[in-house]
Amino acid sequence: MTSRTSTVPAIRTAKRRSGAEPLTMITAYDEPGARYVDAAGVDMILVGDSVANTVLGYDDTLQMTIEVMAHHTAAVARAHPEALIVGDLPWMSYHTTPAEAVRSAASLIRAGAGCVKLEGGINRVEVIEAIINAEIPVMGHLGLTPQSVMAMGGYKVQGRSTDAADALVTAARAIEDAGCFAVVLEGVPDVLATAITAELTIPTIGIGAGPGTDGQVLVFHDLLGMSKGTPAKFVRRYVDLGTQITDAVSAYVADVRAGAFPAAAETYGASSELTEHLEG
Ligand code: KIV
Repeated sequence: MTSRTSTVPAIRTAKRRSGAEPLTMITAYDEPGARYVDAAGVDMILVGDSVANTVLGYDDTLQMTIEVMAHHTAAVARAHPEALIVGDLPWMSYHTTPAEAVRSAASLIRAGAGCVKLEGGINRVEVIEAIINAEIPVMGHLGLTPQSVMAMGGYKVQGRSTDAADALVTAARAIEDAGCFAVVLEGVPDVLATAITAELTIPTIGIGAGPGTDGQVLVFHDLLGMSKGTPAKFVRRYVDLGTQITDAVSAYVADVRAGAFPAAAETYGASSELTEHLEG
């Protein structure tokens, strides 16, 4: 296993053009998930608000609250991962005032995160600066930002027109200037992600943004074949764990119904005295 880039200062300078290895990030939402992905040597674990879709059964991320996100962040932190824990600020936890944004960020840090992530560009500069002033590192998130699903009119690739692409480059520069140490680029054309990556001194971490970024992030349940429905174009399923789970549980159900589980080796025995006492 190669060494990890899992501190904020190390990640901030991890540009591929400077010879850094591509950064790796994956979501996790609980202690076992964090343990498994940390054992794989990932650089960052994102406790994403995608927990809404992947674990809690919602259609979008808008139902997530800071309390729910702190609960999942704390569960991930109990795995004591070597990877940097990125706590995802949910919708409406940083949209009202900078003071509330700082309090929300602090909740995730107290739950065990090593930094926070938030969505948005120029309109978020003030809260990014406020959170960083409270000594909390911030990762940005641009492009297809799921908390803007209503404003975007659905989950659509962003930055397809020249104007929209230019606006995203400007937004990326603005959040870098505001102090973000890295930025997620989601659902944008590969050439735009490559152009933003060339423009910035902080690393870009892509999801549905092609191979030209400084790192990649995927959602745990997508990568492992446990998500509902047809995966998005950018997902690579490395294993079909969903089918494996159903097959394993079906085998258990069949064994119980056939009287084949539990076997003697899976049963606590008793002394002959107790056996005679009970069986007569
Ligand atoms: O919540 C999440 O999982 C995310 C990733 C898609 C980047 O924000």
